[in-house]
Amino acid sequence: MNTERRKFIKSSCNFCLMAAGGFLLSELSACSPAVKVLKVPVSGNTVTIPLNAFASGPQLIVRPSGWYYDIAVRKKEKNTYEALFLQCTHQQNQLVVDPHGYKCNLHGSQFDEDGKVVKGPAGRPLKRFNTTIGPDQLIIQLKD
Ligand code: FES
Repeated sequence: MNTERRKFIKSSCNFCLMAAGGFLLSELSACSPAVKVLKVPVSGNTVTIPLNAFASGPQLIVRPSGWYYDIAVRKKEKNTYEALFLQCTHQQNQLVVDPHGYKCNLHGSQFDEDGKVVKGPAGRPLKRFNTTIGPDQLIIQLKD
């Protein structure tokens, strides 16, 4: 079996596993660079993401069911993860991904990829959710 065929089968299997687990993966093509969007069910105060969802890149946009706002999840060095609430800290507008982090299209605030304010009027960094790593999944605590 050639290498390209193996890669195709592997990526197809990852997608099937996520679909069977109730996850829906799509791509946010309006963003630059393109970022995968993972729709996930909320269980109690947590959402769970299979770690293989990061196989195609270090960043995902997580869309918890029933939530208006997304969560940006990024795999960092040493197998750590950061989960940022994409709600603008100025007047609660939904943020979008941009090449340098996140931006608000309502009044122009910009945040870096760690959620720090780069440009106001927002004055506070983005809310960060606690995460826990399991054997093959990442758990995001939605409440403190
Ligand atoms: S709501 Fe985001 S800058 Fe005002």
